[in-house]
Amino acid sequence: MSKNIAFFGTKPWEKEYIESKKEILADAALWFTEEILSNDHMPKETNFDAISVFVDSTVTKEVLAKFPILQFIATRSTGYDHIDMVAAKSKGVEVSSVPSYGANTVAEMAFGLILSLSRKIFESYDRIRESGNWSVEGLRGFDLMGKTIGVVGTGKIGRHVISIAKGFGMNVIGYDPKPNLSLAAEFDFPYKPLNDLLAESDVVTLHLPYMPETHHLMDDIRISLMKPGALLINTSRGGIVDTNALVKALKDGRLGGAGLDVLEEEGVIKDEIDFLVSGKPEGHDWKTVIANHVLIDMPNVIITPHNAFNTKEAIERILDTTVENIAGYMNGQIKNKVE
Ligand code: NAI
Repeated sequence: MSKNIAFFGTKPWEKEYIESKKEILADAALWFTEEILSNDHMPKETNFDAISVFVDSTVTKEVLAKFPILQFIATRSTGYDHIDMVAAKSKGVEVSSVPSYGANTVAEMAFGLILSLSRKIFESYDRIRESGNWSVEGLRGFDLMGKTIGVVGTGKIGRHVISIAKGFGMNVIGYDPKPNLSLAAEFDFPYKPLNDLLAESDVVTLHLPYMPETHHLMDDIRISLMKPGALLINTSRGGIVDTNALVKALKDGRLGGAGLDVLEEEGVIKDEIDFLVSGKPEGHDWKTVIANHVLIDMPNVIITPHNAFNTKEAIERILDTTVENIAGYMNGQIKNKVE
């Protein structure tokens, strides 16, 4: 039976790519919008059997309630913390994600952030571009070779980070509630308790999922355990780091810098005008929004707009898997189901 399927937050080239797979989705009526989906961004039409969203949409219980015949959500991401899974389950809506599309892609970006900080690449470039000044005064960095990197979360992305770190001649320490002993043997690194990892690492990089248990994992106390002058890299989810605690540690000079591809309240900061005029500040933390602005202005902080996934190869893999996930739903065989 034909299904109505809506894609939210899709750029024209993504629409074109998905439509080029029409033979796989033959029996579907596809509807596309560049708009995200959230409480404040509801489409006029909601009679869809399935929807597809990216992490910039927020699929709350209220949003779900407005789709009367919804059966399936295909998120074009690995993480699914932007979907209220409890509400989806109780409404009988199945959810599929893209379990793996570019573990190397995110790991490469984590190293991009590390090198930007360790070698002051942005400041170097900015100095030449803004003032034509070729002085290296203040641009001294530090070697990665021989330094220790603490990898928090040694899953698919963490594995690639470890492999790259070894290529740089770094010492690796891992922390994961489910240690992967064959990975530790393959790359010859120890697993240690999180507090030890924090105390011993020159660079701490986060590659774990965001869940209620990992909310503010890096809080005031854990950040204070980090080695003085260490770098904190977050390409996971903003909520894993307590933004206010991070600002304090950077301001006090206890941390050497931070490389952040994700921020708490990043949805608000991406579209502040819309947020202000929508008049719906409920559920948002203004203090964190202000702290984000403080971070953006700090010279030893590099922030990118949740861009770690964004390579040509990774996007094509995301769209291919999403199309397969939707085809699975249409054939009554859900693939890559989020439990
Ligand atoms: P994965 O599921 O392969 O690995 C996650 C690892 O974290 C697992 O080994 C798990 O045991 C571990 N873990 C769970 N709780 C933990 C805790 N409290 N402390 C330390 N480790 C813990 O996931 P993958 O593919 O490596 O992705 C990791 C995260 O990266 C995703 O959940 C997602 O939020 C984020 N991500 C960010 C992207 C971006 O564009 N910035 C793109 C893709 C993923």
